[in-house]
Amino acid sequence: MGIPLMDIKAQYMPLRAQIDAAIGAVLDGGRFILGPEVSALEGDVSARLDDRPCVGVANGTDALVIALQALDVGVGDEVITTPYTFYATAEAIARIGATPVFVDVDPVTATIDPAAVAAAITSKTKAIIPVDIFGHPADMPAIMAIASAHGLSVIEDAAQSFGASDRGEVVGTVGDIVTFSFFPTKNFPGIGDGGMVVARDGDLADRVRRLRFHGSKDKVVFEEVGYNSRLDELQATVARVFLPHLDTWNANRRNAAAWYREAGLGKYMTLPGEREGATHVYHLYVARSAEREVIRAALSDLGIGAAVYYGIPMHLQPVFAHLGYTSGTLPVAEEHAEHGLALPMHPHLTKEQVEQVVAAVASAVG
Ligand SMILES: Cc1ncc(COP(=O)(O)O)c(C=O)c1O
Repeated sequence: MGIPLMDIKAQYMPLRAQIDAAIGAVLDGGRFILGPEVSALEGDVSARLDDRPCVGVANGTDALVIALQALDVGVGDEVITTPYTFYATAEAIARIGATPVFVDVDPVTATIDPAAVAAAITSKTKAIIPVDIFGHPADMPAIMAIASAHGLSVIEDAAQSFGASDRGEVVGTVGDIVTFSFFPTKNFPGIGDGGMVVARDGDLADRVRRLRFHGSKDKVVFEEVGYNSRLDELQATVARVFLPHLDTWNANRRNAAAWYREAGLGKYMTLPGEREGATHVYHLYVARSAEREVIRAALSDLGIGAAVYYGIPMHLQPVFAHLGYTSGTLPVAEEHAEHGLALPMHPHLTKEQVEQVVAAVASAVG
C-alpha cells in the first residue's frame, strides 16, 4: 500500500453528505457568483481574524495582484520578496508592472530574512511581500517594524498558512493586506479555484471589492481598470463546510510533524524548523538532504509520495533573467531549493504511515 503525498479525498469524503447538501442549496437558490454564500464566507473568515474586512476573489494569484493595485503599487516601483515561494508571488509583482527584488531567507524557517529586507530598501521600494512558506508564518513583527520605519506597505502571502499564528497573532491579522488561496491542495481548501483578500481597514477593502469587479461598485459607473475576479457560490459554500474543521486538520498536521521527529527522521534529513512562539501549520512537510534524489527515488519505488517544491528559486527563473541575479547570490534560498523534499503530509496521515516513511528514508540513506 502506497502513502500519498497528500490526500484530498480523505479530507472531503467524511463531509460528503454536508457538501452535497450545501451544493444542492446553492443550485436550488439559483445564484452562482458573489451571492450570499460568498458574503457568509467573508464573514466567517473575518470572525476568525479580529473582524478585519475580507473580500473573496477568484484565486490566490489574483488576490496578490489586486492587493498590489489596491495599495497603489505599479510601474517603476520595487517590491521586496522571497525567492523561495511559488511563482505566483513574484509573478503578481511583475504583472502589475513593478520589479521584484529578491532577498534571502532565514535558514531555519525558510521565510524572508528581515535583515535582508532592510538592506534592500531603496528610494523605489513601495512594498514588501513576505510568504508564510509551507505554513510557517513569516517574521511579521520585524517586517512591520521595517515597513513602518520606511513608509512601505506589507502584503502577507498566506496562501499556505491559514490558521497559523506567531507570538499570539493569528495569520491574517497583521499586514496591510493578507492573501489566501483555496486551491484544493491548500491547508484551507476549496474544490476548485478561490481566494480571499483580508484588508487592514474598510477603505482598503472597498477598493479591493471594486477591483475584483471591473473597478466598479455598481456595474454602472466604472472608476478604474480592475479585474473579473469573483468568487463563486459553490466554492464559498464548500469552503464554509471545511472551515469548522480547519483547526483540527491543522492540529493533525502538527501531530504528524511531531511523529516525523519522534520517529527519528532528523538522523537522515534536516527537519523543517519552527521559530520560537510560532505555530507552523505544515501545509507541506519539507525536510532537506543533499541526497534528496536518492531518497525521492527510493520512496517512489515503494509508492510513497514525495515531491520537490520550488526547486528553482525565483531569482534564477528564466522569466527574471533580465534582473541579473546569478547562482550563489541568495545562498540560503538556493540551499533550500536544492535539498528540500516534501514528504507525505495531510490531516489523515497516521503515525504508522509516518513511521513507514521514516523507515524508507533510513533504508535509502541510513
Ligand atoms: C505561496 C503561494 N502564493 C500564491 C499562490 C497562488 O494561489 P492560486 O493557485 O489560488 O492562484 C499559491 C498557490 O498556488 C502559493 O502557494
